[in-house]
Amino acid sequence: MNTKNIKALKGYRPIVATTAYDAVLAKLADQSGVDILLVGDSVGTTQLGFNSTVQVTLDMMIHHTAAVSRINPNALVVADMPFGYSFDDYETIFNSCRKLIQEGGASAVKIEGGLKLALTIQRLVDSGIPVLGHIGLLPQLIKIEGGYRKFGKSAEEKKSLIADAQALEAAGCFAIIGEMIESEVSKKITETIKIPFIGIGSGPYCDGQILVSNDLLGFSTEKVPSFVQIFGKVSEEVSKAFNDYKKAVIERNYPNE
Ligand code: KIV
Repeated sequence: MNTKNIKALKGYRPIVATTAYDAVLAKLADQSGVDILLVGDSVGTTQLGFNSTVQVTLDMMIHHTAAVSRINPNALVVADMPFGYSFDDYETIFNSCRKLIQEGGASAVKIEGGLKLALTIQRLVDSGIPVLGHIGLLPQLIKIEGGYRKFGKSAEEKKSLIADAQALEAAGCFAIIGEMIESEVSKKITETIKIPFIGIGSGPYCDGQILVSNDLLGFSTEKVPSFVQIFGKVSEEVSKAFNDYKKAVIERNYPNE
C-alpha cells in the first residue's frame, strides 16, 4: 500500500484502518489485509499506562513505529506526530517527521489539526512528507476541551469542519481522519472532498473506518467509547491463559518429565 493506492480506494471500496503499536499485533492485522496501520499516539493510553496521549514523546513514537515497520507490512504505516510537536518552528517539525520516516520506517505521518496547520502541512507535503490529516475530536487538545464530545452539532461547527477538510485537501493531505463528527456532517465532508475521509465514531457515510485495535479486539480493560464495536474477546482469552498457566504450575501439572 502507498498513499496513491489509498487515494484510489475512494469511491471503489471502504478503506480499513486500525492502530498497531508492536510487531506481533501489526503482523496479525496486516495478515488480515487492513489498508492502514496507524501507530497512533493512543499508544500512550493503550500500552504505556498514561491517562492521555499528551505524555507521549517523539522518541516513544519512533520506538513503536519501528517495531511495526520491522514486520515489513503490506499496509501503509502511518506514524502520529505526538502532542505539541506540530507547533514547533518549521525546521523542527520537518525534522520530527523526518525521524518518524527515517528512524521509525513510517511511510507517512498523521497530524492532528485543520485549517490552523494547513500551511505547515503544505510545506511538509512539498518536501516529500505524506500527511494524513485528523479533524473533529483531537485527543491532543483534551486539556483544552476538558472531555470527549461529538463535533459538528451547530451550523457554525459544521461550517468550520468542512473548511478544515477543504484546507487539508488543498494542503496536499492524501486522506483525512474525522473523529467523533456528526454523521450528516461526515457525509457532507465525504461528498465534498476528493481525498478519502476515514471516520472514527463519525457514522457510516465515510470512505473508510479506523478503530483503535485494543478496542475492536476486546483487549481493553477500560470502558470503550460507545461507537466501538468489539469484534473479539482477547482480554478474556488472555486472562484464561494466565489463570490456566498459574493453576498448572501450582498443581504441578506443568512441566511434565
Ligand atoms: O492515536 C490514535 O489511535 C488515533 C486514532 C483515534 C485515529 O489518532
